[in-house]
Amino acid sequence: MAIYQERQLQEVSRQFQIYGQILHAETCKIGHINETYSATYNQGGTRVRYIHQKLNTGVFKDPASVMDNVMRVTTHVREKLEARGSSDITRRALIVVPTRNGHPYYQSSAGEIWRTFVFLEGVQSFESVQTPEQAFEAGRAFGDFQNLLVDLPAGSLTETIPDFHNTRKRFAAFQQAVAADRFDRVRQARGEISRAMAREGIVDIVLKEMAAGTIPTRITHNDTKFNNVMLDGETGEAMCVVDLDTVMPGSALYDFGDMVRTTTSPTLEDETDLTKVEMRMPMFRKLTEGYCSTAGEFLTQTERSLLPFAGKLITFELGLRFLTDFLSGDTYFRVHRPGHNLDRARTQFKLVESIEQQESEMQKFVDQL
Ligand SMILES: Nc1ncnc2c1ncn2[C@@H]1O[C@H](COP(=O)(O)OP(=O)(O)O)[C@@H](O)[C@H]1O
Ligand SMILES: [Mg+2]
Repeated sequence: MAIYQERQLQEVSRQFQIYGQILHAETCKIGHINETYSATYNQGGTRVRYIHQKLNTGVFKDPASVMDNVMRVTTHVREKLEARGSSDITRRALIVVPTRNGHPYYQSSAGEIWRTFVFLEGVQSFESVQTPEQAFEAGRAFGDFQNLLVDLPAGSLTETIPDFHNTRKRFAAFQQAVAADRFDRVRQARGEISRAMAREGIVDIVLKEMAAGTIPTRITHNDTKFNNVMLDGETGEAMCVVDLDTVMPGSALYDFGDMVRTTTSPTLEDETDLTKVEMRMPMFRKLTEGYCSTAGEFLTQTERSLLPFAGKLITFELGLRFLTDFLSGDTYFRVHRPGHNLDRARTQFKLVESIEQQESEMQKFVDQL
């Protein structure tokens, strides 16, 4: 790690309620969103690690609300785990370390936002699901996370990214981008545009049920990628979910749908060989079994029966967003090559088709579970 970062981290570390000498720090991840560092301290002869994380204030414009959500959620999860009699809470829940004056985050003079978590020891995360057992653990972990929060009123959290899964608004933005065609890209994307248009009917289904109250508004994670699940290094058991910046009110189906999107195909989001993009039933079965083993306690009949549909809907939503961004000049998702967002849209729509081909089989599986 560069010296200036080390020095900067020393400065940051002094702001928090950690009373020891920082020995060294290393980069965990410089992601699209946050910068994450782990730092080792000497606390009276014992080595203790913490996570220091710089929040991306370009994405999260209201860091106070983000951190307020994170505090409410982590406190609630910890209390519930205590009530369950859980023995190793420091590995099963994220714990925020406050600043020396009791604040959940530190704002530097340059305006950077930093927060600190207790380091989760003996766990690791993986970029993608490799085995059906891991799919089971992913489902179980996010289902349990929702379950732990089921009694925290959704209204107690701020919707930090409004309309995140408003599929009707996402569709309207797509229609506008087609109509405006500011970058003269419609002609390159005719096939994808007609695939999107043909599926307009699915965008209102969950929204209508939510408006009618038949699908409850719950607290959801909203970034249910596998690399946000921390697994025990020895047993592979999911211990904890991290990355709570997007936790807010939503539908449990959105979280599950995004898991279907990100775990059932062996390919990356921008795979260009579409023959490889496929919804694999064994992964779906294990993911669903894992999810229902924990979420089954609270899911309503309507939610449960819409699980396969949710996979299709969220994959479609992402396809729409990539396509919209392609048509609008690539302003939201970072691109690494020309047509990158169009490739991503194609991959999503291919996965939607694969889900459609197997939807009745997926439904049969869910209905007998
Ligand atoms: N408290 C923690 N203890 C140990 N590792 C952590 C902790 N928090 C995050 N990490 C690791 O850092 C990675 C990035 O953190 P995350 O909060 O997911 O940020 P990003 O938004 O960049 O994905 C995680 O995938 C995880 O491996
Ligand atoms: Mg993450």
